[in-house]
Amino acid sequence: RQAAVSNITWHPSLSRHERNELRKQRGFTVWFTGLSASGKSTIATALEQHLLHLGVAAYRLDGDNVRFGLNKDLGFSEKDRNENIRRIAEVAKLFADSSTIALTSFISPYISDRKIARDLHTSASQGGDDAIPFIEVFVDIPVEEAEKRDPKGLYKKARAGEIPNFTGISAPYEAPEKPEIHVRTDKLSVEECVQEIMAYLQKENLLS
Ligand code: PPS
Repeated sequence: RQAAVSNITWHPSLSRHERNELRKQRGFTVWFTGLSASGKSTIATALEQHLLHLGVAAYRLDGDNVRFGLNKDLGFSEKDRNENIRRIAEVAKLFADSSTIALTSFISPYISDRKIARDLHTSASQGGDDAIPFIEVFVDIPVEEAEKRDPKGLYKKARAGEIPNFTGISAPYEAPEKPEIHVRTDKLSVEECVQEIMAYLQKENLLS
């Protein structure tokens, strides 16, 4: 292929390392998991704002941009949730690969699905690129507390049998065994949760 100017070189593929160097930012994924009404989206939104104010590129994936778009063909059966999480993991990885911090806030109730998402990020790639850090944040709240909050009235409907397969009521939530970060949202404020996550990212040198 011929370029119109000289002294430029065609790079068939930029490595992730080169991209991170050029953008002066390392991409990775912060994967929030927890019950409905646990505070996942609220914390992820606050973290996204905090990072953007610092000049760090971050982008939040959640139900609004995924279940209404990319995954609008999926419901809440176990099989559909598996596929929901698989696609989200692939998209998060693309954002992270572009040197952006991907923040995902989905219930992601199954340990095996979260492991697939993690492995997708951390397994060695064909091009020999480094693993992409995957930080699992367990947004923990007792189900009784989530049910008391019930901002969308969904627990009430689920108790009345109007929503089948409702996580925590009639469908399982498998808590993470070893998350990188564990926040109790019935005990900490949103700001305290953000600070805890920021402290972890700084300790792991992920923001430098
Ligand atoms: S999952 O399990 O990760 O695929 O779920 P997710 O994509 O995060 O979607 C959860 C939001 O969908 C609403 N909703 C339900 N949640 C759980 N179980 C059932 N059956 C269900 N039906 C609808 C609910 O508002 C969840 O939003 P959040 O923000 O978690 O409260």
